[in-house]
Amino acid sequence: MNKSAPIGVFDSGIGGLTVVKELREIMPKEDIIYFGDTARTPYGSRSPAQIIEFMHQILRFFAAQHVKMAVVACNTMTALGLDIAKKKYPFLVVGVNTGIRSALKVSHTKNIGVIATQATIASGKHGKVAKTIDPEATVYPQACPKFVPLIEGEKLIGPEIQEAAVEYLISLKEVRVDALILGCTHYPFINGLITDILGSEVALINPARETAEDARNLLVKHQLLADEGVGTTRFCFSADIDRAKRLAQHLFEQKLPDFELVNLQDYK
Ligand code: DGL
Repeated sequence: MNKSAPIGVFDSGIGGLTVVKELREIMPKEDIIYFGDTARTPYGSRSPAQIIEFMHQILRFFAAQHVKMAVVACNTMTALGLDIAKKKYPFLVVGVNTGIRSALKVSHTKNIGVIATQATIASGKHGKVAKTIDPEATVYPQACPKFVPLIEGEKLIGPEIQEAAVEYLISLKEVRVDALILGCTHYPFINGLITDILGSEVALINPARETAEDARNLLVKHQLLADEGVGTTRFCFSADIDRAKRLAQHLFEQKLPDFELVNLQDYK
């Protein structure tokens, strides 16, 4: 492994781009290869075995790109496969930060809401982490299975996502959470809508920044932080690159390069 090798960042679709945005900001010299599995999104309603199998396929793609680190920019794969991935590959692997510490820093009531995919909620990860940090914290989990398909389908506004958001968030409003963790990397795409429903008194926690910081700390620890270069980004997807680019343009102000189509079957 050497400092000039790229960092691989991946998700089931376009959600992990919210992590790329933060990585770009705090590590401008790094080369990043992003992969989004738009051909098979969403992952969150699939079985744990299938989610782990897909994760390995993506990690084999990154192994072929000789990355120095892979960032699992997907809460679902982080919850189910991070420990396995860390042991299996010849590069560093880091997952999405739970956001629990950040939530507890801003919460007065210690009532923390978590919205995420079905698989992430079923893993119980956020509740377990919260108990180790502060036994008095109460985590209110809410699965939001309609969000990822709607966001991937470019329905970031409109009646469908509005109705889904009300359906998912109303119970969290009732229990008066004062911090809400966006436990899926797709959800920052709709943070305005979430705040409209919950009110600005509920702090939204997007763990993308902490995740990027975790990645940087690990590179520093292993003396692998890039110290020269201009920091390129490749955007690779398994389907629908035009749609992925339109969605990515919601996050990035600058003109983005051409997006690449990658067939994971080539990385068996
Ligand atoms: N962005 C992924 C996450 O953070 C979404 C997974 C899915 O495709 O359902 O969990």
